[in-house]
Amino acid sequence: MNTAFPVACGIAMICWLAISTPGFAADERNLERGKRLYEKYCLACHGPKGRGDGATQFVPPVADLTSSDVLLKPDSRLLKSIHEGKPNTAMDAWTSRLSDEAIRDVLAYVLTFPR
Ligand code: HEC
Repeated sequence: MNTAFPVACGIAMICWLAISTPGFAADERNLERGKRLYEKYCLACHGPKGRGDGATQFVPPVADLTSSDVLLKPDSRLLKSIHEGKPNTAMDAWTSRLSDEAIRDVLAYVLTFPR
């Protein structure tokens, strides 16, 4: 028997392990965490699908996170808005309450809302 078969088998095995091991699918896990964080901290203002139709209204109004106004800003800009908040609006700085990692997760979740 040549050696290709066991080698290929080994590689397939490692790939299978990587895919099926919980915690390895980083993107999925981050989105789930982002969703939890969003529902806890952001939903009251931004609404269930990010449209700015949460229970509480503000002046200036809550940003519609599915609008091109927001989506055309680069991710780095949006991360900064979440980190530092927006001056003179109800949008708070989250940097003292959420880790960098958590803020990335929550933005990743926000970007999954239907446009
Ligand atoms: C108390 C209400 C409130 C909460 C809670 C809140 N926001 Fe906001 N958010 C706002 C308002 C108001 C604006 C619009 C600010 C403006 O006019 O520029 C805004 C704007 C934004 C923007 C757009 C920023 C930009 O640069 O255009 C993002 C992104 C955002 N919020 C994300 C979040 C996330 C993520 C959370 C949860 C961690 C959150 N917000 C929690 C009120 C809130």
